[in-house]
Amino acid sequence: MNKRFKRTLITSALPYANGPVHIGHLAGVYVPADIYARYLRLKGQEVLFIGGSDEHGVPIALKAKAEGVTPQEIVDRYHFLIKKSFEDFGITFDIYSRTSSEIHHQTASDFFRKLYDKGEFIEKTSEQYYDEEAKQFLADRYITGTCPYCRSENAYGDQCETCGTSLSPLDLINPKSTISGSVPVLKETKHWYLPLDKHEAWLKKWILENHKEWKTNVYGQCKSWLEMGLQPRAVSRDLDWGVPVPVEGAEGKVLYVWFDAPIGYISNTIELLPNDWEKWWKEEDTKLLHFIGKDNIVFHCIVFPAMLKADGSYILPENVPANEFLNLEGDKISTSRNWAIWLHEYLEDFPGKQDVLRYVLTANAPETKDNDFTWKDFQARNNNELVAILGNFVNRALVLTQKYVEGKIPVRGELTDYDKQTWEEFIGVKKEMENYLELYRFRDALKEAMNLARIGNKYLADTEPWKTAKTDKERTATILNISLQITANLAIAFEPFLPFTSEKIKRIINKETLNWSELGSIDLLKPNHPINQPELLFEKIEDETIEKQIRKLQDTKKANDSKELKAEPIKENIVFDDFTKLDIRVGKVLECTKVPKADKLLQFKIDDGLGGRTILSGIAAHYKAEELIGQNVCFIANLAPRTIKGIESQGMILSAESPDGPVSLIQPVSDIPPGSKIS
Ligand code: 2FM
Ligand code: ZN
Repeated sequence: MNKRFKRTLITSALPYANGPVHIGHLAGVYVPADIYARYLRLKGQEVLFIGGSDEHGVPIALKAKAEGVTPQEIVDRYHFLIKKSFEDFGITFDIYSRTSSEIHHQTASDFFRKLYDKGEFIEKTSEQYYDEEAKQFLADRYITGTCPYCRSENAYGDQCETCGTSLSPLDLINPKSTISGSVPVLKETKHWYLPLDKHEAWLKKWILENHKEWKTNVYGQCKSWLEMGLQPRAVSRDLDWGVPVPVEGAEGKVLYVWFDAPIGYISNTIELLPNDWEKWWKEEDTKLLHFIGKDNIVFHCIVFPAMLKADGSYILPENVPANEFLNLEGDKISTSRNWAIWLHEYLEDFPGKQDVLRYVLTANAPETKDNDFTWKDFQARNNNELVAILGNFVNRALVLTQKYVEGKIPVRGELTDYDKQTWEEFIGVKKEMENYLELYRFRDALKEAMNLARIGNKYLADTEPWKTAKTDKERTATILNISLQITANLAIAFEPFLPFTSEKIKRIINKETLNWSELGSIDLLKPNHPINQPELLFEKIEDETIEKQIRKLQDTKKANDSKELKAEPIKENIVFDDFTKLDIRVGKVLECTKVPKADKLLQFKIDDGLGGRTILSGIAAHYKAEELIGQNVCFIANLAPRTIKGIESQGMILSAESPDGPVSLIQPVSDIPPGSKIS
């Protein structure tokens, strides 16, 4: 450890307690953080590893509403499930707590209040949608309406999930409150903002100049945020689930979930060490590390540091080794589409095989780019690496020891040049492995650990103790002694990655404790030390087991496809007069261009037979502007004009949309003059 630091504080992103955890969580955040924590502990360093559930935010409140239960019931359900999954997978948090706890509410509230009293926030009043029936302001997700770009009717106030455009609630056509179904009204509301613009200069220096060593994906994302220029960020919300804003007149307002969640790292430390927490957060000789996924980079590298700096008494993170995303069989992991391997389900299907998953997720970790988990790769890595290399070597060394030297560590004779060369090679690989661990390059470190086992296999294959046993007892004893020393070394080298396997090896070789400083020693097991009966470390995974898992995913895909492809239900009947109110016409496209800074929008100049008009339509993803020029289209001519992106749209071009995406313009089959009426 760099001399500046005496201890390491590791935090790992607090997962939202609104669903179970899956392999993406494990691969991106918790296994890497655990590897590092275990590695430092094995080195005898002072480490604290903090985890917990993030239990606030709108999605949790919405889920509770949808299920007719309280948000507390939702987070209770998932907090314990998540906590258990982490325990089952050997994630060694020193504490796993939660943000709905009293101590967290108090800590977050005090944190806000200190910044408020110091004048670190700005107060702003803005107009936001308010539900007069429910008597509450509406968070963006509580409002739905028609997307101005693709006309999907189920767009949310922050995003249209059909066309992917980010929206603000004011963009929605026909906004509706999801709470009461009523039409919301605009009403003034006050919020507190963290003026990130004021923090920009020191953040730029701190990250762009002083932390050039951060991973390129992290550094790059920070750079582009900082170069775009930072804006003040609201740190409060009108919501009834969260930490109440501790200011008079702020009734009905809570801290924004991204303000209180990272304070959870602090409150969990306080909960664990009420009298000794400050040294972990306030002393310059603590190395603070945040393990997170890429979607959390801005909050951990920019927003949270700005909060800590605004307080003035905290240290800043030394590194934020964020990972990219893990996909599953070529598709993005999705909770709502059930496209995931849930940890608790994995353990039902593969009991006792935690280390196999830890191994595969580390060997294939999305450290520098998004990666893909496939069941075939899982099987291949288990069978060709864990079974054939690590398991095979350890098992052979142990079985041969039982067979030829009565289950005891034999006395070693003189080392041959080949023995010495093998050991040198072993030490070289060990050093490589340490270098990678220090750089948070756990995939490479694991590869080197496996190379240590490869060295063992090669040693046994080259020295052939089953042959020397017939002719040279002393040589056999030396070979087995060295093989058992390698075995003990593997228990150390693999401990951060495969803790259950390492424990098993230690049990068999009858050696409870081994430290990192002993890695590379050829004298870990003393002569005559008895060892226990061998057990297989890993077992082959058969094709049918894997095919069953693949079928399970295929079934999920089929279920999703059929759900998604179903036509939408028919709307309520209307009377004929309602229909005649619509003035639908044929028009000819005179001009068509893309609207700058709007991915989805095309701007049409239509010949309507009455001098022409401009219409915007969100079909840019489906048609090239130039191919539409000269074509006939159908449009609603008497729709009240709307201004989108500063352009007035005088009508709506009709198109059909299939539930799985394709969009097709509605066009007359034969040529007909512009302005012709459609009925
Ligand atoms: O993205 C998420 O799952 C967030 N719940 C992470 C929060 S990390 C921290 F700030 F607590
Ligand atoms: Zn849309």
